[in-house]
Amino acid sequence: MARKFIAALSDSSLFLREWLANPQHTGAVAPSSPHLTAAMADWLPLDRDAYVLELGPGTGAVTDALLKRGLREDRLIAIEHNPNLAKLLHKRFPRAHIINGDAWHLDQLLRDCPECITQVGAVISSLPLLNFSQEQADALGLKIRSILDSKGSWVQYSYQIGRRRSRGTGEFRLVASKIVWFNLPPARVSVYQK
Ligand SMILES: C[S@@+](CC[C@H](N)C(=O)[O-])C[C@H]1O[C@@H](n2cnc3c(N)ncnc32)[C@H](O)[C@@H]1O
Repeated sequence: MARKFIAALSDSSLFLREWLANPQHTGAVAPSSPHLTAAMADWLPLDRDAYVLELGPGTGAVTDALLKRGLREDRLIAIEHNPNLAKLLHKRFPRAHIINGDAWHLDQLLRDCPECITQVGAVISSLPLLNFSQEQADALGLKIRSILDSKGSWVQYSYQIGRRRSRGTGEFRLVASKIVWFNLPPARVSVYQK
């Protein structure tokens, strides 16, 4: 219990430090709450062999929830832009494919992965899309569309809780959306499919 508390505290202080260094990219002052991460993990694919692509894993709060919900670690690919956070994730999830790179290059990064992954069963994203332009978000949406399998879901949270749709999702159907109040700040989790 004490160890868990200390780990959470050290993740929060690391997050805050990274936010102070680069607020626009970090996008939040603290890791997501267990309520928010559980809501994201609800949308794992049923096929246990399917790959899942996580975008913007940060200190691994959502990652941890995905694995606890049954995702095999070797089926997780996570793209994190911040090298300090990517280093931490490597240590924390040694069997996952942790990529230190830009989510906007996901097509190239997945092609360069050891197994050359062309399709994923879900995209679980914490990217702060509000901090990117409409054009950038649309470009990302198209890349996600091309990698997501026909029944797969793109799960995205946003702090703009009044809007059900996030930027860049225009080419997708909105299949579910809910507000998670127990998070700092409250967030909306929306789910999109092709
Ligand atoms: C709001 S934080 C979410 C962190 C974690 N998933 C959570 O929910 O606690 C957003 C994360 O996206 C990462 N990020 C921002 N821009 C990125 C990009 N272009 N490619 C990959 N990761 C990016 C940030 O470094 C940060 O870790």
